[in-house]
Amino acid sequence: MKLIVTCSSGTEASVKRELYKLGIEDAKAVDGKIELDGDFELLAKLCVWLRCADRVFIELAKFKATTFDELFDNVKNIPFTEYFKKYTRVMLNGNCYNSSLMAIKTCGSVIKKAVMSVMNDEYGTSSETGSTMTLYFTIFNDICSIMIDACGSGLHKRGYRELTYTAPLKETLACSLIDLSVYSAKKTLVDPFCGSGTIPIEAAMIARNIAPGLNRHFDFEKLKYFPKYILENVKKDAKLQENDNIVNIYASDINPEAIEMAKENARKAGVEQYIHFQVLDMKNFKSDEEYGIIISNPPYGDRLSTKDEVKKIYKNFAQMFKGLKDWSCYILTDVKEFESIMGKKATKKRKLYNARIECTYFSFMGNKPKKV
Ligand SMILES: C[S@@+](CC[C@H](N)C(=O)[O-])C[C@H]1O[C@@H](n2cnc3c(N)ncnc32)[C@H](O)[C@@H]1O
Repeated sequence: MKLIVTCSSGTEASVKRELYKLGIEDAKAVDGKIELDGDFELLAKLCVWLRCADRVFIELAKFKATTFDELFDNVKNIPFTEYFKKYTRVMLNGNCYNSSLMAIKTCGSVIKKAVMSVMNDEYGTSSETGSTMTLYFTIFNDICSIMIDACGSGLHKRGYRELTYTAPLKETLACSLIDLSVYSAKKTLVDPFCGSGTIPIEAAMIARNIAPGLNRHFDFEKLKYFPKYILENVKKDAKLQENDNIVNIYASDINPEAIEMAKENARKAGVEQYIHFQVLDMKNFKSDEEYGIIISNPPYGDRLSTKDEVKKIYKNFAQMFKGLKDWSCYILTDVKEFESIMGKKATKKRKLYNARIECTYFSFMGNKPKKV
């Protein structure tokens, strides 16, 4: 089976590191997409364990299509009834770039017609009263790829975050931010603008090796020949891999409502006991500890009226950070002049997208602990 893992631009290296941990050493990422050969067990492992990836697809076919007839004929050759049950409701979703066929809606209708024709030929009915699965197509440079979305809802949906405060980060992006930092369970981590708690919660799950997909379902479970026991075993095994690391994570926000939500989300994720929550204006944050880490996503200045307020918050942040001896900080923001506000050059800058907003992930590395 060909499996395709997708992730957002800039996070490919994090996903490759995760794949490496799952035993896949030679994964190649191109344009936010990684192709792998695998079976149902690997599919289940990817969906249960990948923290930074967006989705996993099963690619059914790839072919050239420059006309609707070519598109229909090629899709008609795909053995959909090996994947879909008699009454499966097939939803279409897709994208076209730089191709002769650019009308996404029409391409979707042609593909759907071909799918229904295959289903009708095999099952004698094209009634779609069963559960839904999504067929995803891309047509790129006239090459069409037809894929089953194996996840259903994206992998960022861990199942714990029903409550969100303003502008929450996607859980997958939060994990990439953590992966791109020097965080490990032994270190103190602080998010002083924690909002709904995404960064601290994901960090606690990483530190305790709690699999992100443990408490949710995936669309691949609805495939005709998917053996249920495979996912059950992958989840059972994941549970056994949780550890009892002592975790030192602090989450604060100026807004009491945000802290209440963050606590509730952490409770649902099973990590509330590992995070110290506090209502606090970031400018008052202090710590006697050395070598701690801040990973955070402060407010953005997306409207003119808020730009000045945001700069003031950032200046206070820079002032507060000066008081933390040998700490490192990692900040995701769309404010390009963040380095000049901090009064120093970032150790590293990476371009990342938060939803559709182009942001920079600024790393300011502190001194390393002295070896004794
Ligand atoms: C972009 S949101 C953070 C979203 C968060 N990463 C999440 O996933 O939900 C920024 C947060 O900064 C908080 N905030 C704004 N000014 C603050 C201040 N002076 N001190 C602490 N928190 C502040 C806001 O209440 C808001 O929750």
